[in-house]
Amino acid sequence: MPDPSPPTPCLLAARAVTFSYSPSHAPVLRELTAEFPAGAITAIVGPNGAGKTTLLRVLLGLVRPLSGEASWTEPARVQHVADMPAGARARRLVYIPQRLSPAFGFLVRELVEMGRHAAGAGPDRAAIASAMERARVGELASRPFDELSVGQQQRVGLARALAQLDAINAPAALLADEPAAAMDPLQATHALSALTDVARAGRAVVVVLHDLAQVLAFCERTLLLDAAGRVAAHGPTRDVLTPAALESLFGLPFDAAATGGKTTTLVPRTQARLAS
Ligand SMILES: Nc1ncnc2c1ncn2[C@@H]1O[C@H](COP(=O)(O)OP(=O)(O)OP(=O)(O)O)[C@@H](O)[C@H]1O
Ligand SMILES: [Mg+2]
Repeated sequence: MPDPSPPTPCLLAARAVTFSYSPSHAPVLRELTAEFPAGAITAIVGPNGAGKTTLLRVLLGLVRPLSGEASWTEPARVQHVADMPAGARARRLVYIPQRLSPAFGFLVRELVEMGRHAAGAGPDRAAIASAMERARVGELASRPFDELSVGQQQRVGLARALAQLDAINAPAALLADEPAAAMDPLQATHALSALTDVARAGRAVVVVLHDLAQVLAFCERTLLLDAAGRVAAHGPTRDVLTPAALESLFGLPFDAAATGGKTTTLVPRTQARLAS
């Protein structure tokens, strides 16, 4: 009997990607293969400089690998991301960068509206208000972006991404680079819950995170990237995010902390000692 529920198609993938910023430099990513399925959040975890941001840039088609490729699969169609025109990419792949560029005096509302324009849609007050509401920047709508705190600016990046996703009436992926790094615990929880809603709507979500409690709480899947730009492990978070894997990745011992029998965070042993 045929399987009545075929697996969710993998939308975004990297196959044997090797990337270098210049021929005279060692590769930043080496033979990297990974899949980022629709309907789930995949965390990318690794040391500073491992190549996490670079991997997002390859997946977005902003830079071209030396060998291998990033691909975007829709039913009956596979495309190499690097070959897609910029407009087509913006109607499929949505980016929250690690740092938003200075925004030349734009108001928050205007920046959020740009998400709709990127997706090829016109202004829509209700849609923009909804995206701002979900990212909790409604009360900042008339403020110049450049005058906001860093955590507030990160919420604007999320709002712009939500506005762009809402305007895409097709499969799409969201790639977010440390989107809550400057947020307080309450705002970070709201932001990551918003990413969960995006995944539940059937989008592929890829998020770079350093906070392991956030990975455990929000991300079904995890890719561990080692300092040489190689995949150290990739799969369900509960299988991948172990004290042994983290010790090998970061070079210090970790202890798991559990609540109700479930691992809720992983703490470097030295920090745990200081706290006791
Ligand atoms: N534009 C660039 N030109 C040359 N080298 C770069 C460029 N951007 C990044 N690199 C180098 O590539 C490597 C990977 O950088 P990347 O920003 O991808 O790391 P990361 O894992 O995102 O680190 P972090 O956790 O600090 O954000 C680093 O060694 C960095 O110095
Ligand atoms: Mg980075």
